[in-house]
This record gives sequence, C-alpha cells and structure tokens, in this order.
Amino acid sequence: MSYEKLGFGSWLDPLQKGKMVSDNSVDMPPSVKSWLDDHSVKSIALAPVMVDKACWGFISLAMFDREQVWSEPELDALQTVARIIGAAVHREKMIKELDSKRVQLAHSGRLTAMGEMASGMAHEINQPLTVINLSADACTTYFNRNFPDAPEAEAAEDIHVQVKKIARIVENMRAFSRRSSEEMSLVNLAYPVQDALTFFRVQFRERQIELIEEIVENMPEVKADKQKFEQIVVNLLSNARYAVDKRAETVEGFRREVAVRLYVDSLSPDQLKSFGLKKKDLFAEQVIMFEVEDNGIGMNEDVKNRCLEPFYTMKEVGEGTGLGLSVTHSIVKELGFYLDIDSRENVGSLFRVIIPLQQDDHHV
Ligand SMILES: Nc1ncnc2c1ncn2[C@@H]1O[C@H](COP(=O)(O)OP(=O)(O)OP(=O)(O)O)[C@@H](O)[C@H]1O
Ligand SMILES: [Mg+2]
Repeated sequence: MSYEKLGFGSWLDPLQKGKMVSDNSVDMPPSVKSWLDDHSVKSIALAPVMVDKACWGFISLAMFDREQVWSEPELDALQTVARIIGAAVHREKMIKELDSKRVQLAHSGRLTAMGEMASGMAHEINQPLTVINLSADACTTYFNRNFPDAPEAEAAEDIHVQVKKIARIVENMRAFSRRSSEEMSLVNLAYPVQDALTFFRVQFRERQIELIEEIVENMPEVKADKQKFEQIVVNLLSNARYAVDKRAETVEGFRREVAVRLYVDSLSPDQLKSFGLKKKDLFAEQVIMFEVEDNGIGMNEDVKNRCLEPFYTMKEVGEGTGLGLSVTHSIVKELGFYLDIDSRENVGSLFRVIIPLQQDDHHV
C-alpha cells in the first residue's frame, strides 16, 4: 500500500524538504491512526535521512504507551542519528562512484597511452618501410634491365604494392592517434568522412553490418578542423556499430544497418524549431547535414538525456569510457556546429551534426 493511501502523504512533504515531523495519534488522519493503533504506536517522531540534499529515507522514534510532546533533546538526538546515517550513506555512495570513475579513468588513460604507442609505432615502422621500398626499387630496376620477363620482376612489383598498403595503414594509425592539430582551415567535409569510413568499411563487412553510404562528394567547404571532424565521425560510427551489434544479440536473424549521410540541406522553420535553433544561429538558409543512423538498441529518455555526460556509459566496466559522445559534443560546439539526437528504444538512433554554412564559405 502506498504512503498516500495510508494517509502518510502529509508527512512526506516536510520530510522531503528535510524537516522533522512529530505527531500524536489523536491528531492524525483516521487511516494513519488505525495503522498506528494496529502497531500500538501512540506518538511518533520522524527525522529524514538526507543524502546529498535529497530525502533518502527516514528514521523514527515511537512511543507505545502514551501520547506525548517530544522533548527538545529527544528530537535533537533523533536528528543527529539521522544526520550520521545520511553522512554514512553519502560517503558510501561517493566511494562507489569514485571507484567506478577510477576504473573508467584508468581505461581512458590506457587508451591515451595506446594512442601514443600507435603514433610511436607508426614512426618506427615507417623507417624500415622506406628501406624496403628503396630495395624493391633497386630490384625492379635490376630485373627490368636484365630479366624483364623473370617472375622475380613481378615479385618486386608485389613488394611495392604491399608496402604501399602497409604505409596507408600506418598513416591511418598515425592520423588517429595524432593530438589535435588545432588547425582550422577550409575543408570539404567529405574527405574526413571518407577517411574515417576506410576504417569502418572493412570492419562492417566482416561483421556483416550493412553500411549505407550517401555521401555527396562535392561539398561546399567550411571552416573546420579535419582531424576533429574525423573524430566525430569515428565516435558516432563506433556507437552505431555497438548499438546494432547489441540489438542483434537479442533479435534472431536481425539485419544490422547503419547509414552515413552528408549533404546540403535547407532547414524549414519546423526543422529549425525541432533542432532547438533560431534563424540567427545560422548564417545562411542552407546547412550541411551529417547523419549517422542505426537500427540498433536505441535509447530511452533517461539514457538520451544523459548520453552526452562525460563518463556516462551503459557498457560494462572496461568496455567503454563513456567519453565518446561528450568528446563529440565538445568538438561540435567548439567548431560552431550543432548536435541533434533522435532515438527510440528498440527502434534505432539518428545522430545529426548540423553545420551552418557561412557567407564566406567557398561554394564549389
Ligand atoms: N547509437 C546509439 N544507440 C544507442 N545508444 C547509444 C548510441 N550512442 C550512444 N549511446 C548510449 O550513450 C552512451 C554513451 O555513449 P559514449 O559514446 O559517450 O560512450 P560509450 O560508447 O559508452 O563509451 P566509448 O565511447 O568510450 O566506447 C552509451 O553507453 C550508450 O548507452
Ligand atoms: Mg562511444
């Protein structure tokens, strides 16, 4: 039975505001009185246990044999005990929270360290690659001059091709781990999108996730940091991948789909409103729209409201840092763009980056 039904509702309000309540059974509503009579309580005093300014529960003192006005020292003692319990619960909560943050921080620290290592490795690998390439060059020249039809001539050519492949992987690794270049220049955003996609295409194919690409290549250039925009794309795509994989775990034969779109759009007044934007937020009628849409697990209201918070993650400890979207959001804000999230639980999510076109942007 609920507190309200029993008639305890009148106590709830002051308790939730952190105030003490004391009452004699004669002054109480009949339902409360009968409940207290059943429990032989004649007089009661309650003190809220406040944890971090919210009422977490309460403790009470009850008198069983008579009605009474509670004395100051009795009420003081009750309140003190409630405060001690409140402080203990708060401490316990903080310790738990700190512990999980510590695990997550250690994880993000490891990621940073891995980034550094990748960058170091890329550098180290590049040197021997240069030597291999030069040697293959020497071989090609030698064979072409002396034995142009020898199979070894072809082998030397193969070495070239493979070295190029490794060089590209290494370059990607380096680009990924590079610290922000802090460089704003005029960028056709199709490039960073394509760069990020080279990484995901293979991965998606291997996992049999359908990747729908609707990228307009011929985009007006906007002032942006290519590296940072690439990071946005990577974060959104990796979240989409996780969301569709997660849904496939529970729905048999599920077709996982992720769509990536980049196009120029002009926003209708309704759209502006739904994105929470005003006309003056944009310089021109037109915007560039970057979208990542998935048919994954989606988000309920609570997750949607909190997903941009740093360290907020629904993933298991160690699986995610909860930093992806908060980093994404801060980059989006820094670049002067807007982020819009549309998501429904068990249906999917649509993340949109809205990029205002500026007057002096270069139209191709
Ligand atoms: N496309 C999506 N579909 C459903 N839920 C999502 C999606 N993107 C993000 N979320 C939810 O938002 C949370 C926060 O995302 P965020 O990218 O910040 O961290 P993460 O993905 O959990 O960790 P990391 O990015 O370090 O792997 C996720 O744990 C997930 O619950
Ligand atoms: Mg993420």
